[in-house]
Formats: sequence, structure tokens, C-alpha cells
Amino acid sequence: MEIFKFVLYISLFVSLSSATSVVDFCVADFNFPGTPVGFPCRNPINLTADDFVFSGLGVAGNTSNIFGVAVTFAIDLTFPALNGLGLSMSRLDIGVGGVVPIHSHRVSELILVIEGEILAGFIDSNDQVYYKTLTKGDIMIFPQSLLHFQINVGKTPALAFVSLNSASPNFQTTTTSLFANDLPTDVIEKITLLDATQAKKLKSIFGGTN
Ligand SMILES: *[C@@H]1O[C@H](CO)[C@@H](O)[C@H](O)[C@H]1NC(C)=O
Ligand SMILES: *[C@@H]1O[C@H](CO)[C@@H](O)[C@H](O)[C@H]1NC(C)=O
Repeated sequence: MEIFKFVLYISLFVSLSSATSVVDFCVADFNFPGTPVGFPCRNPINLTADDFVFSGLGVAGNTSNIFGVAVTFAIDLTFPALNGLGLSMSRLDIGVGGVVPIHSHRVSELILVIEGEILAGFIDSNDQVYYKTLTKGDIMIFPQSLLHFQINVGKTPALAFVSLNSASPNFQTTTTSLFANDLPTDVIEKITLLDATQAKKLKSIFGGTN
């Protein structure tokens, strides 16, 4: 059995690192550690249709937080069948006045608005900004690794689904990157030109120290 898993492990690397896959799919086996290209595969003999279905996106998330937003992730960790396939989908609930704060991923994101009015935008590496108010049925692409944001500018809660071209897209939020850790306030002042009062205020909100 261990040999079998080892073979699957190797086939994962081969399949994910070459254009032509040698396996049809590779449902993640969390008994083994993840690797930079994903998790080892579960034995296909034990898989059923249920392993390829994720039912968690029909329920609104709890938006009672400082940003007024909830993201429900269907990514490899929550939906192991996505492992190695290079895509994921998540549900975005944005309360009235809520925002998805400025953030980036290593991959591109496509948003599909289902309900409400969402002001969405991204900023390219020449500091050019592209933003627009999206309504039901609109989709917008946020190209890989560029900073982007979404704001509910309507009078009702907004609902959208986002699809990213990674099973493990990650999420780096500028605000928490700056204010949720022990990066010293004087360093933050220098690298952002914010004043110490503002930096300390945001650190106290997001749990940062120093
Ligand atoms: C397959 O499922 C059986 C029964 O649940 C289990 O004993 C066995 O370890 C599983 N095999 C693999 C490779 O996961
Ligand atoms: C939503 O989250 C808030 C803050 O964590 C909590 O107080 C509240 O009970 C939650 N509401 C529901 C319906 O779970």
C-alpha cells in the first residue's frame, strides 16, 4: 500500500509538472503533507461521485466583521477533488457597505455578480486603475498578482462567485499584511508615509504589535 501511494505521489509530480497529465484526477490525500505542486492522490478505487461534489456554496457567510464580508472557499483544502487541477471557486457575500479589502493572489480571478451592486477594480503595475460598478450577470477579470478590491455600493447585500485558476490561490490582504504582525510602527511609517497614530490604530484593530 505504501508503495502504491508512493507511485501516486510520483505520478502527481509528473502529471502536474508536464503539460500532458498521466492521471485523470488526483483527489488530495491529507494523510500526506502538501507539496509546492499539491497533495498526493487518494486511491481512485475508494472515490465516489460525492468526492467530486462540493455543496457549501449555497449558504450565505457571516458578514459581521470589520470589512462586512464573508468568503466561502471551495479550494483544495475544502474540496480535495480540485487538487492539481488548477482552478477553484468561492462565494463572496458582501454586506451593505462591506468591502473585500485590497489584496492579491498568485493567480487570476474572475468574478460573477449574482445580486447587488459591486464596485470592483484592480491596479496594474504601472499604477493604472481599472474599476467599474458591476451588477447582476456581469463578470470581470482581475489579472494574476495585481492588487484588487470589491465594494458593495448598493443598498442590499451583494452576492458574487469568484473563480481562480489555482486550487490553492492564496489571498494576501495589504491591510493585514501591514497591521496584523510585529512589523515595527516606525518601519511602517517609513515604507508607507502613514503617521504613527494611524499605524498604531490599525495595529490595534488587526492585532499587530510593535
Ligand atoms: C480504501 O477504503 C478502505 C475502507 O474504507 C480502507 O480500509 C483503505 O485503507 C482505503 N484505501 C486507500 C488507499 O485509501
Ligand atoms: C456572526 O459573527 C458574529 C461575530 O463573530 C457573531 O457574533 C454572530 O453570532 C454570528 N452570526 C451567526 C448567525 O452565526
